[in-house]
Amino acid sequence: MTAKTVLDSLKPLPPDAILGIMQLYRADDDPNKVDLSVGVYQDESGRTPVLECVKRAEADVYAAEDTKSYVAIAGNAGFNRGVEALVFGADHPALADGRVATVQTPGGSGAVSVAGHLVQRAKPDARVWLSDPSWPNHRQLLGLAGLSLEQYPYYDRSAKSIDFDAMVGAVSGMRGGDSVLIHGCCHNPCGADLTAEQWQVLADLCERHGVVPFIDIAYQGLAEGLEADARGVRLMAERLPEVVVVASCSKNFGLYRERVGSVSVVSPDRERNRTVASNLSNIARGIYSMPPDHGAAIVARILADAELRTLWTEELDEMRDRLNGLRRLLADKLAERGTPTDFSFIANERGMFSFLGIGREQVVRLREEFHVYLVESSRINVAGINQGNVDYVADAIAAVLSD
Ligand code: LMR
Repeated sequence: MTAKTVLDSLKPLPPDAILGIMQLYRADDDPNKVDLSVGVYQDESGRTPVLECVKRAEADVYAAEDTKSYVAIAGNAGFNRGVEALVFGADHPALADGRVATVQTPGGSGAVSVAGHLVQRAKPDARVWLSDPSWPNHRQLLGLAGLSLEQYPYYDRSAKSIDFDAMVGAVSGMRGGDSVLIHGCCHNPCGADLTAEQWQVLADLCERHGVVPFIDIAYQGLAEGLEADARGVRLMAERLPEVVVVASCSKNFGLYRERVGSVSVVSPDRERNRTVASNLSNIARGIYSMPPDHGAAIVARILADAELRTLWTEELDEMRDRLNGLRRLLADKLAERGTPTDFSFIANERGMFSFLGIGREQVVRLREEFHVYLVESSRINVAGINQGNVDYVADAIAAVLSD
């Protein structure tokens, strides 16, 4: 036994709640295995292909590239302007007034981290309220930024819908200067999205109580469409003086491993916007210095080129239509099996995720007996379903529910 070292104080940790299941799936060599775990789009053949618009833009980027020198702490300026227009809408008053500061980040996770550090720096005693439930990594990223985290009620697991009254009650009790993290669309993990009316109510409440909306829009385009999915962000940025928006190109551009995201902060005026921009850059420099270039260069190219952009929106529409079709298909297949639970809610939810609402033991049985992998919270990624496996998945779910 070696002498005690500093590292002895570390405790071994369990695998990541989501990526750990992805690893288990990859290690399974059963021919019937089904991956409903990590939030990655799959096509009918179970592949996650590189989008055609990305392939073409990538060829353009390679042909034009003449240096590997540094870009900038804030990343690719063309990407940042393109993403601002995508998220806020090109004519948004906050953009016209010069009140939005954006930096490119290493994925949506990098965006949450940078934004978290900014909130902590601006108001060290601020609390950030996460929805119950939320993406597990929100807690990890914002906790590491030194923020105090609280939870507000969001999804009613027995009613299988948003408990909006409870959410309103919680937001009404928040302190001025607190932030409320809201999922812009395709709620991760429950798939239950706010309606336009509910966004209005939340905007009123944030205004009245001085609460800062902190919106994560990692799935723009995968619920109803690029414009409709951004309506909450756009409304908040019209109504509130300060809004934090984190976005990702992992899902809607399929650029997962390239790590492409952004954080945009709306300020009340240009002067404060300059201060925020300098702080965002300073935080990015202090964590990772600057973001990787390749994926953002591809996105900038797609957004700037009319033909590539059209191709991208067509490919995105196809992904969204497929997800919504699979939702209906799975709900119908489960209904055919007469399961004790009514799963019709799956068809009404949006994005990649829904909760099956089954217990941990049933989730483990699905994995160990049937090789169907989902996150232990019972979150499924509907993109892992296809015509070839849907009956197998529905049978497996019905089997673990019947015993
Ligand atoms: C997910 O929720 O599965 C994705 O956002 C991937 C991740 O990093 O957790």
